[in-house]
Amino acid sequence: MRQLDNATYLTALDDDGLRDLHRYPDDLSAPWIRVNFVASIDGAVATNGTSGGLGTPADHRLFTILRELADVVLVGAGTVRAENYGGARTDPAQRDRRRARGQSDTPPIAVVTAGAHVDPSSRLLTDADVAPLILTCADAPADRRRALADAGARVLELGGSHVETAAIRSALGVLGLHRVLCEGGPSLFGQLLADDAVDELCLTTSPLLVGGASGRISSSPRAMATPMRRAHVLGDDDGTVLTRWVREPSA
Ligand SMILES: NC(=O)c1ccc[n+]([C@@H]2O[C@H](COP(=O)([O-])OP(=O)(O)OC[C@H]3O[C@@H](n4cnc5c(N)ncnc54)[C@H](OP(=O)(O)O)[C@@H]3O)[C@@H](O)[C@H]2O)c1
Repeated sequence: MRQLDNATYLTALDDDGLRDLHRYPDDLSAPWIRVNFVASIDGAVATNGTSGGLGTPADHRLFTILRELADVVLVGAGTVRAENYGGARTDPAQRDRRRARGQSDTPPIAVVTAGAHVDPSSRLLTDADVAPLILTCADAPADRRRALADAGARVLELGGSHVETAAIRSALGVLGLHRVLCEGGPSLFGQLLADDAVDELCLTTSPLLVGGASGRISSSPRAMATPMRRAHVLGDDDGTVLTRWVREPSA
């Protein structure tokens, strides 16, 4: 029987091995957008409105490692609200490794929101070691933008009524935040896909069938077929499958 040459048992890998498999390309001169999602076998992106019910130990382990490797965690405001996001956390060993890679101690969370619809008293502001970035628009009410700035956020106005992908990439590039980890949600991922801006996808399949009316991991008005190369498949004993897909270079 032929076997997949890039399929492995997760138990064969320690955290250094997992970090190696998920290294960003060296010497990036522009943002590289890695997207990470967990879904059920039947494609649901949430159960009861959040992704928590889909998590497994392997998914949590990878989630932590991907955050450690990132310069910034990019996320849509819908996910921040649904999941009550706080700031990313790093422990001393992670901070040492980040400094050795020339990174700040902790990656900021960058929230994309047209309306600056983020509660200044939410965990994003009150439970974070580093100030979040709010990527928003001129049309967002000035009092909301001011309240977020007063609560400690860095508020960047990146468009009139919508934050375009090019503006996100440009703002992160100017800040030197090239190793981007996008944690969704489906609307933001859909936009990035439609704009051909997704460099790779890490997709965890949780060993669950859930039914229900939950959506898929991407949603956009316009479809865009993006050929991807399977970089690896990792299986955990509980049935979780971790996959990494990298965009095929354009011909
Ligand atoms: N399974 C997983 O791994 C995973 C990961 C992430 C999310 N989720 C789930 O996905 C659901 C949320 O889905 P969603 O599609 O609403 O998430 P989303 O993409 O995080 O949020 C959409 C919202 O973000 C803002 N936004 C996104 N892109 C924007 C842009 N280019 N310009 C301006 N604003 C932009 C808008 O908010 P404003 O109204 O503030 O303008 C928009 O309504 C939740 O149930 C969550 O649990 C699952």
